[in-house]
Amino acid sequence: MDPQTRELARSVRTFLEEVVHSARVDADEGGPQIGDVVSEHLGLAAQQVPVVREEVPEHQFVDLDIALTLLGERGGDERVVGIGGGDQRVHQGFSDFFAGHYGRFGLGAVDRVNLPTGPDSTRRAISFGVRLLRFGGQPLAVLQRKSHPHGGYPSGMEVAGTAEGVVADFIAEVRRLMVQHSVLRGQVLSFSGSPFEHHSNAGITFLHRPGVGADDVILPAGALDRIARHVVGVGEHAERLGRSGQHLKRGVLLYGPPGTGKTLTVRHLVSRARDSTVVLLAGQSLAFVSTAAHLARAMQPAIVVLEDCDLVAEDRGVHPGERPLLFQLLDAMDGLEGDADVAFLLTTNRVDLLERALAQRPGRVDLAVEVPLPDTEARYALFQLYARGLPVTDEVLRLAAERTEGVTASFAKELLRRAVLVGAEAGHEVTDADVRTALDELLSDAEQLTRSLLGSSS
Ligand SMILES: Nc1ncnc2c1ncn2[C@@H]1O[C@H](COP(=O)(O)OP(=O)(O)O)[C@@H](O)[C@H]1O
Ligand SMILES: [Mg+2]
Repeated sequence: MDPQTRELARSVRTFLEEVVHSARVDADEGGPQIGDVVSEHLGLAAQQVPVVREEVPEHQFVDLDIALTLLGERGGDERVVGIGGGDQRVHQGFSDFFAGHYGRFGLGAVDRVNLPTGPDSTRRAISFGVRLLRFGGQPLAVLQRKSHPHGGYPSGMEVAGTAEGVVADFIAEVRRLMVQHSVLRGQVLSFSGSPFEHHSNAGITFLHRPGVGADDVILPAGALDRIARHVVGVGEHAERLGRSGQHLKRGVLLYGPPGTGKTLTVRHLVSRARDSTVVLLAGQSLAFVSTAAHLARAMQPAIVVLEDCDLVAEDRGVHPGERPLLFQLLDAMDGLEGDADVAFLLTTNRVDLLERALAQRPGRVDLAVEVPLPDTEARYALFQLYARGLPVTDEVLRLAAERTEGVTASFAKELLRRAVLVGAEAGHEVTDADVRTALDELLSDAEQLTRSLLGSSS
């Protein structure tokens, strides 16, 4: 299309949109207006009724829908009505609709949207609609709206009611029910979204809880027990600890070279803490740390995972004059009351970068555990783990362990994969000889870069 034709097409479209819009407004004139319907429900002219607006973070919109639905059912004879008028509505609030400044708004369909409530489930929530309900016997009108991609109001509700105290009580009850029935409770969540957007509006992704057993994690003797006791054990004995005045909030730091099993350990802990709400933050999403901490407190018992936090140690955040993200992270940990059953789990490859900041803010981390490169025994255990079910002997695995000083677990995994591949290429099941061939290959000078990419120090 040439530019002139495109320009013409655009004008025609705008014209048609205006025609359609004015036709729609004309059509609305005849029917009841939303203001009339609300007035009738409240028993008072809607224009004279105060409106209270309450925002909720994007990731708690489903909780709002659930709380309002419960209150609607509780109060009896709830009615939900939609407002007509197309995308115009996005920029209007209850008082605009009542006053009719920007045209008249008749009734329309209630807008709904499917929103996730778990890794495999969704709920059909009202994204734009008015609930006419009763609370404590008093009539209320609640405009429930999800934020629109093209701007306008943020997600939340507007409450119109004739008795002010009732409106305040209603909002408090909505807040309480939102926490009590939250779909986020007991879930494994990761945050996404840009830190350039408003922090509270992080998008949330529901993840499946991993199933990593203690046998899948090879750590120095006693290390996994110590970590698990701190993260999971404190939670299991929360009541007794609380009764004897001990704080529940805890911080655990796992540090060591890349590829040694820090993330795997986290996955194991998340597998074990079945009832805990887990928030995983890594990379850019570490910027949502204070939102995550709030969420953790509301949904406790909870675990907040801060993965590879050295990567943001020096980042300054997006606003001028903001302190490094690491300090925000540590502040968020400190901001939470000691009696909150929340574990902060930090991992890093660069403990040297964190040490000073952590030492200057004592009490944030009460257990630091090194996850080192595996020693000969640990490498043997790793080779056995990754050779599970393969027809190779312990002798060859022992030999491999002895020849691979300085390598990581990732190396162990790759060695056995190579061995299986060598066997497959020769047309048979993997044998000890294949393990030896793969070992020679991986340890050869030609594969120095491979070794280094697998996290080996030699
Ligand atoms: N200690 C370990 N025990 C068993 N497997 C391990 C261990 N460490 C690493 N692995 C294997 O290597 C992969 C990468 O390890 P990961 O936990 O991501 O390392 P890190 O977080 O320390 O950089 C794991 O998914 C696992 O398959
Ligand atoms: Mg990791």
